[in-house]
Amino acid sequence: MKQQKKIVLGVTGSIAAYKSADLVRRLREKDYVVTVVMTDGAAQFITPLTLASLSGRPVYHEMFKDEESGEMLHIRLAQEADILVVAPATANIIGRLANGLADDLLTCIALATRAPIVLAPAMNEAMYQNRAVQDNCRKLKERGVKFVDPIEGDLACGDYGKGHLAAIETIVKVIQSLKY
Ligand SMILES: Cc1cc2nc3c(=O)[nH]c(=O)nc-3n(C[C@H](O)[C@H](O)[C@H](O)COP(=O)(O)O)c2cc1C
Repeated sequence: MKQQKKIVLGVTGSIAAYKSADLVRRLREKDYVVTVVMTDGAAQFITPLTLASLSGRPVYHEMFKDEESGEMLHIRLAQEADILVVAPATANIIGRLANGLADDLLTCIALATRAPIVLAPAMNEAMYQNRAVQDNCRKLKERGVKFVDPIEGDLACGDYGKGHLAAIETIVKVIQSLKY
């Protein structure tokens, strides 16, 4: 029997976070096992309950919650992952990953995993075009991180521009095309 691939899906604090619910569904339809890790920011936009219900698995976001169990959750999830996907990826998580920060569960997993990493940014166009963000994206690309670029459209802030989360089907296709 073919072994199911395991995805750790990081969800961050973008207005597009609600779209991660659809991404979880589509990935499960493709037979991936999806474990969601949320940042504190993401939890402002979508409830863990929604993502736990759709993924059929616990949703994690606290680094220090279960320390009395002796388990190092960030290491377990990093090692279990066949792919780490962050969708939507905020300017903030892109900056933290580009600089090797390890200040929450998701960034620790990203540092500790040897799995391929896919980021799907979503933000206001001016934020996305900002040199700091572009430099961070470049750094990550040079290290082999795969990007699913944002697309043009009406942005939640009222602007029009390239900052919209890529279509969920596109993100799924990129994940399926990975060689690992
Ligand atoms: C209503 C609202 C919408 C936001 N949408 C985005 C967004 O789409 N992309 C982004 O990069 N930041 C966005 N932010 C800012 C992030 O939430 C903020 O930078 C936060 O610190 C991100 O943390 P995280 O990356 O750890 O989740 C938004 C903030 C608010 C209040």
